[in-house]
Amino acid sequence: MSGACPHLPPKPPARPARVSLRRYIKLFRADILSAQPARLYRAWMAEFRTPFFTSYLCNDPELVKTVLKDRPDDFPKSDRVREGLAPLLGNSVFVTNGETWKRQRRIIDPAFEGGRLRDTFPAMWAAGQSAVARLAARADGQPVEIEAETSHAAADVIFRTLFSIPIENEVAAGVFREFKAHQHAQPVLNLWALIPLPKWLPRLHRGEIKRTAREIRALITRLTAERMAEIEAGTAPDDLATKIMTTADPVTGATFDTAEMVDQVAIFFLAGHETSASALAWALYLAAMFPDWQERVADEALREIDPERAEFAVVKRLANARDVFRETLRLYPPVPMMVRETTCPEQFRGRAVAKGAQVVLSPWHQHRHERLWERPDEFDPGRFATENGKAGLRNAYMPFSAGPRVCTGAGFAMVEGPLLLAMILRAYRVELVEGRPAMPVAHLTVRAKDGIWLRIRPRAGGGD
Ligand code: HEM
Repeated sequence: MSGACPHLPPKPPARPARVSLRRYIKLFRADILSAQPARLYRAWMAEFRTPFFTSYLCNDPELVKTVLKDRPDDFPKSDRVREGLAPLLGNSVFVTNGETWKRQRRIIDPAFEGGRLRDTFPAMWAAGQSAVARLAARADGQPVEIEAETSHAAADVIFRTLFSIPIENEVAAGVFREFKAHQHAQPVLNLWALIPLPKWLPRLHRGEIKRTAREIRALITRLTAERMAEIEAGTAPDDLATKIMTTADPVTGATFDTAEMVDQVAIFFLAGHETSASALAWALYLAAMFPDWQERVADEALREIDPERAEFAVVKRLANARDVFRETLRLYPPVPMMVRETTCPEQFRGRAVAKGAQVVLSPWHQHRHERLWERPDEFDPGRFATENGKAGLRNAYMPFSAGPRVCTGAGFAMVEGPLLLAMILRAYRVELVEGRPAMPVAHLTVRAKDGIWLRIRPRAGGGD
């Protein structure tokens, strides 16, 4: 088990090659990563047959390209994914398919374009400064569970960029609180939604999921309705919410109404906060594990970042922070697997695949694939300068998915992640806590089994 090796970033142990379906379901419920056999790190494709469904995990870059880029309309998300997430997400862009999905993307995408990221930057910067200030109280060398801190910071980024309000705002704080309760109740259930098991199997926590989802949506509705009124009165701030709510679909001319906007805000919050929080926490953990890289990121940040100036151009100069963040997303992709469905009979690598089969695309396995990456389990942000690393980025790297259904927030997240990492390491040194190694597990996103623990201390020269 490489998780026990002091030189390799933690990796969950694989399960034995053969297990019964009952055992597989049990393992899957506990953690989808350790429920998988080791051969998936070498296979181009693997077929799982059960009495209820057949699924195909695809690692072959050509096959992944077919599904995500060449013929995405033939491989939609299954209705089950939508059903599972419906209490919270309604008809959000994350779960819709076909024409509805296309229309929603036409309205949302312009808000996340490169040029708009520059406008969003000061809000992200402010959230980074707030995170640095908050951590001052924790920088006494005592163990800190860092996921809680990065979660707070990522939620702050979302509220500031979307609605121009900090996380301290009463409604924002309410959404954040209820989301934590929701996540606590929902992760297992959500995975159930991804596998088409029979209806008679027990579904847990239904009531709690519905209650928290209702609460979150009520709060988001309040924010969205207030914003609609401000737009009508001409007093709305120029942030992501205003941009999305005032963008008309170039094809139909329609804008989102309040109800449809609530669905989108819910997914921006869910998709944009838990993922970024997980990535930033792992990046800090890896920085603690590999102090050489930590020093490189910190030196660069001390050199390049002027804490008095929110300067968008700085992002380009934070090359070490970007490579560390990229390597973190390779080793700990926050969305470990994505599921699609076949809508007609297919041939996958010469094998007949029936209509209605599940297609699993696994960033987790592709990113650690032994035939695609050199030293796949090692942490080496320098790899992206090598031929193998560059080829990997092109063919075997999909933390944000790929093709038309690629994460809307990919560009946003690649500014946010390296920036916050650099700002935090500019101000603090992070160290591992003996006896508290982190171990990845995947529920909806890749988290750590018992949290990610670090000691934080002020860094000389970074305390301005
Ligand atoms: C490190 C951070 C992030 C990671 C790793 C990530 C990853 C992903 C992945 C893998 C998907 C595709 C899921 C699938 O097809 O099943 C996705 C979709 C999505 N993400 Fe992200 N995401 C991140 C941050 C964000 C942010 C910051 C936002 C918005 C503010 C966002 C908004 C979305 C939305 C709206 C979708 C649905 C797109 C669609 O289905 O058309 N994400 N994300």
